[in-house]
Amino acid sequence: MTASIIDGRAVSKTVQEQITQEVKQMVEKGLPPPGLAVILVGENPASQIYVRNKKASCARVGFYAEEYLLPASTKEEELKNLIIKLNTDPRIHGILLQLPLPRGLKEKNMLELIAPEKDVDCFHPMNIGNLFLGKPTFLPCTPAGIMELLKHENIDLQGKKAVVIGRSNIVGKPMAMMLLQEHATVTICHSRTLDIPAITKNADIIVVAIGQANFLTADMVSEGQIIIDVGQNKVGEKLVGDVDYDAVAQKVAKITPVPGGVGPMTITMLLQNTLQAKKLQQKT
Ligand code: GUN
Repeated sequence: MTASIIDGRAVSKTVQEQITQEVKQMVEKGLPPPGLAVILVGENPASQIYVRNKKASCARVGFYAEEYLLPASTKEEELKNLIIKLNTDPRIHGILLQLPLPRGLKEKNMLELIAPEKDVDCFHPMNIGNLFLGKPTFLPCTPAGIMELLKHENIDLQGKKAVVIGRSNIVGKPMAMMLLQEHATVTICHSRTLDIPAITKNADIIVVAIGQANFLTADMVSEGQIIIDVGQNKVGEKLVGDVDYDAVAQKVAKITPVPGGVGPMTITMLLQNTLQAKKLQQKT
C-alpha cells in the first residue's frame, strides 16, 4: 500500500484564508491590523529566507509588518533596546527574534526580554511554562502546525501511542506536551535512546524532528502508521526530511512530504499566534 499524503500546503492555505477574513473584518471595523516585528541579526542564508517568507506571508493575510535586519556585529545592548522599544510599540503585537543569533549574543537573555504577551514564537519561559501546565496562551509554531494537520486529518489522539524523535526546546519537547494534552501516550526518543526501531515499530504516530536526512527508514516503521516529518535537510541542492520518504511511504498509512508538509504550517501558526496576540492585547 502507498501512504496517503498529508498536504501541508492545502491546510495552510485554508487556515491563512480564515486569518485573512478575520483581519479584513477587523480593519473594516476601524481597528488596526495585527502587527509583527521580525528581527534578524547577521547574515545566515537560511534565516534570511525564513525571514523573507515570514514577511511575505504577513503581507498576504493583511498584517502590518516591520523587519529589522541588523549586522552580525550588533551589541547586546542595541538588540536589548530594540526589543524593549517594540515591547511598548502599540502597532506591534508580536515580536519574532530569528534564531540562531550570532556568537556573542545570548539567545536565552534576549528571548526572555520579549514581553510574554508579544512572544508569538512561544519561546519565553512563562509561555512554555503555561503550555506545560496545560493552559497555553500561545503554542510553539511547528508543533502547533502538526497538531493542526492531525486535526484536519480527523485523527483522534486519545489512547494512541505517539513517538517523538528529537528533544529540542522548539519542537520535540513541546510536541510531546501537546500530544500528551490530547491524551496520547507519548515516548520521546533521542540520541541516547537504546533500540529506537523497537519503539517506533510499535507506535501509531511518529513525529521525526532530529535533523538527519533519511533517519527513519522502512525497517523502523509498521503498516497503518502516521508519519510526520519535521526535517529540513539540504542534500546537495535538494531539500529532504528526516524520513526515507519513498521507502517509508510504501509501508505506512499517512505521511507528510518535504517540502509541502510541516514547513508551510509553521509560518501559518506564527500568523495565527500574531492574530491571537492582537486579540488579547485589544481587550486590555
Ligand atoms: N529558527 C528556526 N526556526 C525558528 C523559529 O520557528 N523561530 C525563530 N525565531 N527562529 C527560528
